[in-house]
Amino acid sequence: MIALVFGSITAVMWQGALDVAAGRLSGGSIAAFVLTGGLVAGAFGSLSESWGDLLRGAGAASRLHELMSATPDILPPAVPLPIPVTSNGARLTFTDVHFHYPTRPDQAALNGVSLDIAPGETVAVVGPSGAGKTTLIQLAQRFYDPDQGVVRLNGVALPDADPAAARAMMAIVPQDSVIFAASARDNLRYGHWDASDAQIWDAARAANAESFLRALPQGLDTFMGEGGARLSGGQRQRLSIARALLRDAPILLLDEATSALDAESERLVQDALGRLIQGRTTIVIAHRLATIRAADRIIVMDEGRIVEQGDHAALVAQDGLYARLASLQFQDTPAA
Ligand SMILES: Nc1ncnc2c1ncn2[C@@H]1O[C@H](COP(=O)(O)OP(=O)(O)OP(=O)(O)O)[C@@H](O)[C@H]1O
Ligand SMILES: [Mg+2]
Repeated sequence: MIALVFGSITAVMWQGALDVAAGRLSGGSIAAFVLTGGLVAGAFGSLSESWGDLLRGAGAASRLHELMSATPDILPPAVPLPIPVTSNGARLTFTDVHFHYPTRPDQAALNGVSLDIAPGETVAVVGPSGAGKTTLIQLAQRFYDPDQGVVRLNGVALPDADPAAARAMMAIVPQDSVIFAASARDNLRYGHWDASDAQIWDAARAANAESFLRALPQGLDTFMGEGGARLSGGQRQRLSIARALLRDAPILLLDEATSALDAESERLVQDALGRLIQGRTTIVIAHRLATIRAADRIIVMDEGRIVEQGDHAALVAQDGLYARLASLQFQDTPAA
């Protein structure tokens, strides 16, 4: 564009100079012509910039359109059944659930799991890597439908209910806390958009996140950085717990982080979790003895099946998989 503009100005000036010298044109008209030409060329220049913007916008819009026009496999039924409300959490029931991931048709991720979790109960799920623990939580949220068997929420089979209504009853604390590149406030109220600042601080206090949030340079408006890069691991976890507290859902799905925390963060996170599970139905995938001991019941999974269940003492006494895991894998809370 620039070469074109200056090239044509040079050409016009050259021809103009020849014409002025030959007396065919006055100096004034050539000056006026060059000036006007410059203005017109400038306008074309910005037009070409806008054209570039337009192309970039069109590219982004087509990607957005692709996302928005994708039809999910999990659809609400034509007439969704309402999910009854219970006090003190909700009842979650798995009945003979078989499931394999669509990309792995040959390997069952769950192989006949039956589990009834009463309102208000805390169930710890333990087992070796790949046992199907996370899969259990994914099916509870109906990210997939089981191949066989059914998952019920307060007696309503999940496929008969609106997935949005079922998920509205759940809060999750994932294994890796997801922190968005947004302000601390937006990160906290992600599951409850109209929460007031007072509610946000209440949740932060209960999650032991208040002190580090108060110390942020712009308070709740502080930008958290890409993926929460400006927080420590323990702070990210506590923020994620505060978010779940603020959501205040009857069912809590917790994939306990395995990452090593120092003794103090560990104690703060553990303490916050203790408060979070009060008065809710909780499934916690547990890696720490302290969490496991706080549960009402322990489910031991292996290769997509529930192989043992009971409380800590009974399971240790059975001297099976749990006893082996307990001696090898579960870290006790350091210096609690
Ligand atoms: N998205 C997926 N697609 C295909 N296979 C998967 C997918 N997610 C998990 N699996 C497989 O399903 C099985 C159960 O996985 P799951 O994630 O439930 O294990 P887990 O018990 O949570 O293990 P960990 O303790 O390591 O988190 C594994 O064999 C795994 O390889
Ligand atoms: Mg997992």
